[in-house]
Order: sequence, then structure tokens, then C-alpha cells
Amino acid sequence: MTFQNFSTQQLQKMDAGHHLHPFTDHKDLREEGSRVITGAKGAFVYDSDGNEILDAMAGLWCVNIGYGWDELADVAADQMRELPYYNSFFRCTTPTPILLAEKIASLAPDNMNQVFFGSSGSEANDTALRIVRHYWAIEGKPEKNIIISREWAYHGSTIAATSLGGMSAMHSQLNGAVPNIQHVMSPCYFESGEDGESEHAFGLRAAKSVEDAILAAGPENVAAFIGEPIQGAGGVRIPPASYWPEIQRICDKYDILLMLDEVICGYGRTGEWFAAQSMDIKADTITTAKGLTSGYQPLSALIVGDRIANTLVEKGGEFYHGYTYSGHPVACAVGLRNLEIIEREGMIERVRDDTGPYLLDSLQKAIGDHPLVGEVRGFGFLIAIEIVKDRQTKERFEPATSGAAAVRDHAIANNIMMRAVMDTMIMSPPLSWTRDHIDMAVERVIAALNGAYKQLLAVDGQE
Ligand SMILES: Cc1ncc(COP(=O)(O)O)c(C=O)c1O
Repeated sequence: MTFQNFSTQQLQKMDAGHHLHPFTDHKDLREEGSRVITGAKGAFVYDSDGNEILDAMAGLWCVNIGYGWDELADVAADQMRELPYYNSFFRCTTPTPILLAEKIASLAPDNMNQVFFGSSGSEANDTALRIVRHYWAIEGKPEKNIIISREWAYHGSTIAATSLGGMSAMHSQLNGAVPNIQHVMSPCYFESGEDGESEHAFGLRAAKSVEDAILAAGPENVAAFIGEPIQGAGGVRIPPASYWPEIQRICDKYDILLMLDEVICGYGRTGEWFAAQSMDIKADTITTAKGLTSGYQPLSALIVGDRIANTLVEKGGEFYHGYTYSGHPVACAVGLRNLEIIEREGMIERVRDDTGPYLLDSLQKAIGDHPLVGEVRGFGFLIAIEIVKDRQTKERFEPATSGAAAVRDHAIANNIMMRAVMDTMIMSPPLSWTRDHIDMAVERVIAALNGAYKQLLAVDGQE
């Protein structure tokens, strides 16, 4: 590869000169330079300085099967030779999206049998919003178009996906959000549970905020509720077990469609193919991306339930929506083989029955009592570690986010890639991790916490 002719400094200089990164303070980036990742194998990524880093984030919550699967490269190359591109507009199609749609439908809950392809989770959520509003319009209820979402939701970064999401910092840069989207409370017990309130009661209270919003708007004006089964980028916010059944009851009662965003949860991360199955949720749309190709190709799939799909077919009329790369033959070929690998290697069962419980248990035992840790929670291969200054009061470090940022920096220095979301540390490892990888991760997390503790105490003047 030609990049090997360049030093890290040369690459960083060119990067700073010409490459605008996503979700980045460009002033900071100029001053500090970027980390250049040049290779990956199995559970590890390698940077241009030769560091071998255990990737506890699976890239960006997506490399579910881990790195270095040659057969995916072979499948992509074969497909490029056979048919690199053709569109699926104008009543055309190609074989791989047909086979992949059929495969996804076979894995999805029983009532979900149609798939609309895009290239990213954001695009798929744009499709979801469009299709849900289109559904009500052709059902003769165009006024039923309000979508209820939640604070701290992340649904992507296009204008529609940002509007659906509940990230206030993103909203503040959004002059001209998509109208008729409302946000209610996030179901995070650690953050919002009240003194003496059980988790169960909190889950019902959080669900009631959805019912209150529906009643305030008038059920005849509300199209759908959208939610990630577990809010990922918001800080791995796992709702109490009482939450989703109550949301389901409320949606059914007022005839509100239920849109699940499983861009992170889908394809095995929760120990089933979809969190809808782990949590027994009956949805009308499920947004998926990331783990569909394990990030080896950009691809998303909006899975559409029979209720909406049947109406589209029965009522007819063109749905004016689609992307040049909807059903891209190469991406779909890679997606198909990726799902085969997940299945063949028994990765989902392993996460559900062995490595998922082992990861959470090992972390809770190793760091549950650490002075910086307010809570360790997890579900499948999603983990959150709350970083606090005071375990009793849950007080955070000042300035906000500085606690988790310190832990994150020490984690990377200890060769484990983790992410900090506000004051929460996140892990979302490849499903291919073994118990050995987990043991290695736990050791490195301990080292990161200890390093950050020393640093934070010194800043606080307590050392
Ligand atoms: C739940 C969820 N939805 C949507 C998206 C957006 O996906 P993309 O970045 O592929 O547009 C993400 C990305 O992290 C996500 O976590």
C-alpha cells in the first residue's frame, strides 16, 4: 500500500491539511494530530507507530465478526468482477440484494418480511421516517405524523436522523429540523431514578412519559414512537425490564407504530439476532446497519413489518424514495457472507450463553468497587461504566466529561480502544471475542482506571 511510503507525521500533516473528520473539533485536531490506524487482525487494530490495540469498540460498534476475514475480501472481489454495480430502480434488481433480503427476513421477527436497503444507518432512519408518514398518508390519515423519540437517542447525522435523535448539542447546530418530532425522557435508571424508586417503577414512569406525550398531542396526530432498544451512543442506557412491555402496550392502545433502531443492537450484539427478540418487542420497522456487513462494506437495511408493507402493496402508488446504492451488489454479497459467518461460528449463542455474561461478571468483580466507578452495567456485548468522583452521591468530575475522558486516554495508552460518552465509558466488542480477550480487556481497564484515578486526584489537589 502506498501509505507505507509515508511517516506518521507526514500522514498527520496531510490529514490535517485536507481531511475534515466527522464529530471532531477541528481546532483540537490540528493541534493534537490524528491517530492513524493502518491495519487490523482478529480482535486488534494497529496504528502507524506499531501499537497493537485491543479494539473494545468493534470499530464504531460495527465489526461484529472481528477483523481479517479473507472470505469477505474474496466475496467482494468476485462480485466486483461479476457485476460491480447495477441499480434496483425502475423494476430492475440484482441477485445479491434478493438473497440478502430473503435471509434478513428469515432471521427477523415473524411479522417482518420486507427490506429496504441503503448505505448507512442515518439513511435507513430517513427511510423509516418517510415510510411511516407515507403509510399513514395512504391509510387516509395524513395528520397522524408526529414521531415521539427520546432524549439521548442517536439515530444518525443526516437532517432527518439528527431531528429524530435526542442529542441537544446536535440540535443546537440544526437550523431547520424536520418538524413534528418530539422528545421524552431517556429510560436511564442510574441517571434519573429517584431515591427509593425501584427500577421497575422507574421503567413504568419512563414509559408513561411516552403516553403523556401521545395524549398531549392527541393520538390521532401521532404516527409512531422510535427508540433504540438500548440507547448506544447516548451511553449504553439499558432500560429496566418493565419499560419495553409498557411501551408496547401504549403503542397498541393508541394505534401508534413502533419503530426500533437496531443499528447497534442488531445482528447479535444483544445475544439474539435482534434485540426485538431478546426483549420480546413487536415492531413495525427495525433499522439495521453496522453489524449487517460487520463494517466490511457500507450497508443498511430497514426491515419493514407486514402491516406497512401490505398497505404499500394494497394501496399502490409510487413511494418516491431511494438511493443510487440501495441494494448495492457488492455490499449485499458481503452482507450475506457476513451473516453466514456469524451463524456458522455460533457467535450469537456464545455471546448469549458464555462470553456476554462472562464479560459483565468479570468487569463487575474487577472494578465494581473501584473508587471511580459508579456502576457497571451490560447486556450481551454492550457495556457501560459510569465514572464518578463520589460513589455515594454519584457526583461527577468537573469540568463535565473530564472523568471519562481521563479514563479513555489511559485506556488507549494501555492499548485498549474504548469510548467515552459524557461521563460514561463504553465497550461494544466484536462478537468474536473469547474469554482470553475478555481477561486481557479487564486487566487493561483496571490499569486505565488506576492511571486516571491518580491523574484526577492530582488535578483535584488531593495527592
Ligand atoms: C442507533 C443508531 N442509529 C443510527 C446510527 C447512524 O448510522 P450511520 O452512522 O451508519 O449513519 C447510529 C450510528 O452510530 C446508531 O448508533
